[in-house]
Amino acid sequence: MYRSRLKGRLDKNVLSYMSSINDDLLLLDYDILGSQAHSIMLYEQKLIKKSELKKILDALDSAKKKDLRKLAFEYEDIHEALEAFVVKKAGMEAGGKMHTARSRNDQVALDIRMKARDDINNISIQVIELINKLLFKASQNKDSIMPMYTHLQHAQIGTFSHYLLSYSDILLRDLERLNGCYERVNKSPLGTIAIGGSSINIDRKKTASLLSFSGIVENSIDATTSRDTIIELCFCLSMIMIDLSRIAEDFILWSSSEFDYVELADELTSSSSVMPQKKNPCPLELMRAKAAYVIGLVFSIMAMVKALPSGYSRDLQDTKHVLFRAITITSDSLNIMGSVIETLHVNKKTMLKSAENSYAISLDIAEELVRNGMVFRKTHKVVGELVRVASRTGKNLCNLTENEIRNVAGKELTPLISKIIKNISPKHSVQSRVSVGSPNPKEQIRMIKDRKRKVNGYKLTIEKRSERVHYSFENLARIVKSF
Ligand code: ARG
Repeated sequence: MYRSRLKGRLDKNVLSYMSSINDDLLLLDYDILGSQAHSIMLYEQKLIKKSELKKILDALDSAKKKDLRKLAFEYEDIHEALEAFVVKKAGMEAGGKMHTARSRNDQVALDIRMKARDDINNISIQVIELINKLLFKASQNKDSIMPMYTHLQHAQIGTFSHYLLSYSDILLRDLERLNGCYERVNKSPLGTIAIGGSSINIDRKKTASLLSFSGIVENSIDATTSRDTIIELCFCLSMIMIDLSRIAEDFILWSSSEFDYVELADELTSSSSVMPQKKNPCPLELMRAKAAYVIGLVFSIMAMVKALPSGYSRDLQDTKHVLFRAITITSDSLNIMGSVIETLHVNKKTMLKSAENSYAISLDIAEELVRNGMVFRKTHKVVGELVRVASRTGKNLCNLTENEIRNVAGKELTPLISKIIKNISPKHSVQSRVSVGSPNPKEQIRMIKDRKRKVNGYKLTIEKRSERVHYSFENLARIVKSF
């Protein structure tokens, strides 16, 4: 349809090489909405007649009903397919006016932003659901004592709820990031045409408001060329994937026979073709791999854009593919992780046993000595030496004899140290943590309550802005019907 200067049809192989139709099918509904808004604006600006508008709107309506998806494969992209359909249906005199003061460049930028807006809302709601599941699991595990790890070595005593809450906080930041991204995505590029605007008296703010955007991307070069907001969204998704991948890694490790801290539901694991005993955490392993894939997508989109000259280049077409892949993978992964958390069996006894047999209590002992007036650096030395003696014979600190303690700490300190190590336990250890954000059960209760409030606040914001878009589209449909 566009080959006014060019002779003959596009080479078949080139057409299939260039076509973005598979990705574009996800944009069809948005392309129709954008075309409706644009055509209504053209009429209101007295650029097309009412009878012409009516014909265009009718044709767009039947494009929705007719399966344009099947016809679309003959065209380079969905924009060409839709316009060709409208011209055919409404006739050249009316249909041929739909593309007045519009280019595929602002059109595709518009569609991507409209879809991205919905995707951000859907992903955000999924993140919220996952956080709620983490919070619920945390509330059931405030007393699930376990060792915490640094360098994968026992570090301090903690609780499983504290671990889960760390990820609810991380995911809350992912939500915050998506929120910021939404603000930047939610601007209309429509009406900037190919790169330099139009001499026709269009109303960009009108189409922006019909399509529920909070404003316009003003500069016409910026509006048609930039993909920074989309790159930002891909990054936000990759950050979510990185977070999910780290949870996956912990659960893979903790569900091993060596740890046995958690057990995944049977429905979420797979077996071996040959070893009947196998219960493999395959979905979580794939989540790790898919996180790598999404990170790769972020690199791809950044590399696609980094050396483009100003103005639209066809390279930009492939940024859609990257974004849509990243959205699908992240959305699927959030769902799977939700099921994992919901059905996770927590082996409280094994966790506790591991904490009890651990030297992770050492810092608590040292701090108890500090509270009894000792200099911290000295307590570090003494407790470290006690651990060396205990580990040589493979015993717990609480089983050290008076003699062994005296040999390390001297006569004066022995009664105090003996008393501390006899009385201290993992439970006592978490209860004694008073600093803000520690695994103390009271802190856990406070944080769970606070995060619930925060997440509900986000939910309200997202629901409100989704409704705003929804009502605008209902309003647009009413206007379309009125003609
Ligand atoms: N299909 C293209 C895309 O997805 C839009 C077409 C712009 N083409 C052009 N030759 N200016 O980016």
